[in-house]
Parts: sequence; structure tokens; C-alpha cells
Amino acid sequence: MQTVHSIKQLRQIIRSWQQAEEKVGFVPTMGNLHQGHLSLVQKAKKCTDRVVVSIFVNPTQFGAGEDFSSYPRTDLEDQNKLYNAQVDVLFLPEKEEIYFTDASTEITVRGLSDSHCGTTRNGHFTGVATIVCKLFNIVQPDRAFFGKKDFQQLLVIRRMVRDLNIPVTIEAVPTMREADGLAMSSRNGYLTPEQTAQAPKLFQALQSARDAILVGNEKYTEIEQQQINWLRQFGFQPDYFSICHSDNLKPAKTSDTRLVIITAAILGKTRLIDNLDFIKA
Ligand code: PAF
Repeated sequence: MQTVHSIKQLRQIIRSWQQAEEKVGFVPTMGNLHQGHLSLVQKAKKCTDRVVVSIFVNPTQFGAGEDFSSYPRTDLEDQNKLYNAQVDVLFLPEKEEIYFTDASTEITVRGLSDSHCGTTRNGHFTGVATIVCKLFNIVQPDRAFFGKKDFQQLLVIRRMVRDLNIPVTIEAVPTMREADGLAMSSRNGYLTPEQTAQAPKLFQALQSARDAILVGNEKYTEIEQQQINWLRQFGFQPDYFSICHSDNLKPAKTSDTRLVIITAAILGKTRLIDNLDFIKA
């Protein structure tokens, strides 16, 4: 595995692959890699000839007072994991390589970015869309791999790719979970042992809501409120718990069949997100 810091060098390598008609897979990350990231790499290895992983803690997607400066940076451990996963290139740029100090262009995916996490994390999805678009322009992958754990992010990126005709196929990879159901996340490391024991309740709430819908309960607002109240009993401060159409995150109508329940809740100092998508027959 080569570790590359400059766009110029990365482009030279990728050009040589493209000349050999090799398909390029791309996994963008912010590092502190866990099994969830590695499952994206494994999928990329299966689907493409060459795999590029980027690690870049993107400042523009963190709001004021969020955890940008304390976000876990574990480059050496990450490098070892990617080497063992037989990644071809790790792209590890400095901030100066990515952002011009007088940059004046941003990408905003209107609508999809404004609800749910976009309400509390103002500007977050503009930061995500802008960096992902820049990385797509830098890497020019055939396929890019994203976890379904960040469901809203996945929809924002799909919409951006469609609207801007970016020639990349977006692949969604199922959420990796701990044995107790907790969705894997770099931020789980912030939880105390007591909070770690409570955290799986978030997924349990999603499952209960889904099960209620699948047995015919159509009172979606009531189901949402019940789960919010249930989570509060265990110390969560739910930000939202919403039953939505899985294509656009609009509140689900009872006639909708493609559903996703998405939630974000604060536990101690940690903001956890999770979701569950399913088909209502
Ligand atoms: O999901 C993430 O880790 C980040 O939002 C991404 C897609 C790498 C953009 O910085």
C-alpha cells in the first residue's frame, strides 16, 4: 500500500490504473477506522480492481462547538488496518492540500440537507457535499462506497451525484453493529462504560418502532413519541426520531412502503445516530 499526500501524485497513480483499464473503488473516511469502515473496503475490493481510501478530518463539516479538534486521529493504526486490508493507496492529505484559503465555492443539496441532522448541525451537509465532490474530482473513482449508518449523508451524496452528473456509482453498505446492536461509530469511543451499556437502546427503539409498523400500527406520530419517551428514561436526549420515506426523508405517509426510521440522540456528551430501513408490505 502506498500512502500519498499530494493530489498530483495520487492522480499519476490513478491515471496509470485507468490506462490499464482498471476500475477504481473509493472509500472516503475521516479515519479512526473500525470494522464498519473495513466492511466498505472489503466491498470495494470485491467490486473494483483498485481501492483508494482517503483519511481527512474535514473541518468544514463540523459546526462551532462540535468535536473537530478532539475528533480521534489515529493515522498509524489506521494505516496498519488498511495495509492488512490490502488497500492500494491511502490518500492522506493535509488541510492545505485540500482547501484554498480563499476558497469561495460550496455545494449545498437543498431540501435533503435541511431536515433531521441538518437542523441541529447547521451547514454540516454543505461541508460533506463539498468535500465529497472535491474528493470525487481528485480521485475520479468508478464506484464510491458509503455506510448506511449515515443514511441522510448517503441520500445527500446520491442527490449531488445525480444533480451534477458526476460519473460515479454510489454503493451503500449495511451498517456494522456490535453484538449488542450498537451501530459502530468513531464517536462510540467517547462513551463511558455506563453509557456504552445503555447505547444499544437506540437500536432497540428503532426495532420496536419498525415492529409496530410491521404489525399494522399506522399511528406514526404516536410511535415516534413513545420511542422518544422510552429513550428519555435511559438518559438519552433524543434530537429526533422520525419515520420517513426512505427516498427523500419526508414524513412517511401510511401508503408509503419504502420506509426508514432515523434517529439522533445525545447520551452524555456523545451524539449518536442510527437508522433502520425496511419495506412495509
Ligand atoms: O462519513 C464520513 O466519514 C464523512 O462524512 C466523509 C464522507 C468522509 C466526508 O468527510
